[in-house]
Amino acid sequence: MERILLVDDDEMNLMVTEMILSEMGYHVDTASGGAECIDILQKEDYDLLLLDVELLDMRGLKVLEQIREIPRLREIKTVFLTASSHREDMTEALRLGAIDFVRKPVLPEKLIEVVRNALVERPKEVILAVDDEPMSLMATRNFFGIRYDVITASSGEEALTKIREEKPDLVLLDLHMDGMDGLEVLQRIHDTEGCDNLPVVFLTADSDEDTEAEIFKAGATDFIAKPFVVQVAMQRIRRVLQLKHLQDSLHEEVEKKTEALRESNQRMKNLSGQVIRALAGAIDAKDPYTNGHSVRVAEYSKKLAKKLGKTNEEMEEIYNIALLHDVGKIGVAIDIIRKPGRLSHQEYEDIKKHTVIGYEILSTISEMSSLAIGARWHHERYDGTGYPDGKAGEDIPEIARIICVADCYDAMSSDRSYREALSQSFVREEILRGKGTQFDPKIADAMLEMIDADTEYTMRGRCGDENNRT
Ligand SMILES: [Fe+2]
Repeated sequence: MERILLVDDDEMNLMVTEMILSEMGYHVDTASGGAECIDILQKEDYDLLLLDVELLDMRGLKVLEQIREIPRLREIKTVFLTASSHREDMTEALRLGAIDFVRKPVLPEKLIEVVRNALVERPKEVILAVDDEPMSLMATRNFFGIRYDVITASSGEEALTKIREEKPDLVLLDLHMDGMDGLEVLQRIHDTEGCDNLPVVFLTADSDEDTEAEIFKAGATDFIAKPFVVQVAMQRIRRVLQLKHLQDSLHEEVEKKTEALRESNQRMKNLSGQVIRALAGAIDAKDPYTNGHSVRVAEYSKKLAKKLGKTNEEMEEIYNIALLHDVGKIGVAIDIIRKPGRLSHQEYEDIKKHTVIGYEILSTISEMSSLAIGARWHHERYDGTGYPDGKAGEDIPEIARIICVADCYDAMSSDRSYREALSQSFVREEILRGKGTQFDPKIADAMLEMIDADTEYTMRGRCGDENNRT
């Protein structure tokens, strides 16, 4: 639990503020004066000191000054509670390393915001100050070095190098410099990869409206006119940096969510693939004579799709559709499917129904509506004499035309219970004979090329081997 020491001489303020902080889950100790505060701090460790500026026994600023002289307390995070807004006080507080101010009477939401921000452990932010006048650079370093790590560059070129090498959190840029001026530096920063979100605040003595408009038009984050009041400039820089942190964490959050979504999509894709393969296995198991047929047809279809210039995604889709092209056989009597001899007219009519049955089964999968296409139309013929709908030519979905060629190639090139695989030359002749009548000529040509490239007639044996082992 983080520990806070709260110092205020007003009893009511002390009570209210302590209550809010305790509600937030912090351990809170209290002191009502400066001397008591220093005494407690010497004995106990705290993560944050909330210190009233006006205490009865000594001023809060004096208390902080004394605390900073104690080596162990030099870095203690301090936030001031103040009813006034004297510039001198605020400047002095910043010089002593105060992180922030909370105006009294304390508003709970403001207190919560400031305390939470103060307790966030983050490394000191790095500011790159760019100015070609050494005196200005030194002043900037002195002012802002109280709270930030300030690095410097005395020219645009040097600034760009330091931005690349040291990756500052913010750039304080002088407008008028010899050589590359501020606007050009800004343009070059925007052109640098990974620097689109780097805040650039201009510091310039030109405070006229035109200059201001020009600077913002060029994409600057903010503009501080010289001479400036340190605490005001400091507050503006703090706000710019807070905004940057918010943007960065939002960006990180979006990245994380996108990655989680990507993983979830991949898991869904894997699951769909597994379900499709399991279903294809169930179809093939029903007809042991053609075991592995679905997987081989899917492989040939994918190869044909590749030859036809389809993308990887399309090839994957065609593979899945082809895997399930005969799913309707689940609804056909097993003795008809397993009958080795010639089928009767009625049996043939029954087996033809596997196209429509398959279509009906797969149509229920609304998330992958294309799955049903292969099942219904893979027995259509290019000349319109196929079944179940007698579609012709380009009316037959291309996926079904591809599966049709792959299906016939596998039927001829695989061993059956009643015959060996047909010879490659015979298979080639049949594909050629069916070109333009049974098959889409383009797809038949693609298959002929695949056959011609397969000089040892090994293609038929390889496809689906992996799945045939089971
Ligand atoms: Fe079929």
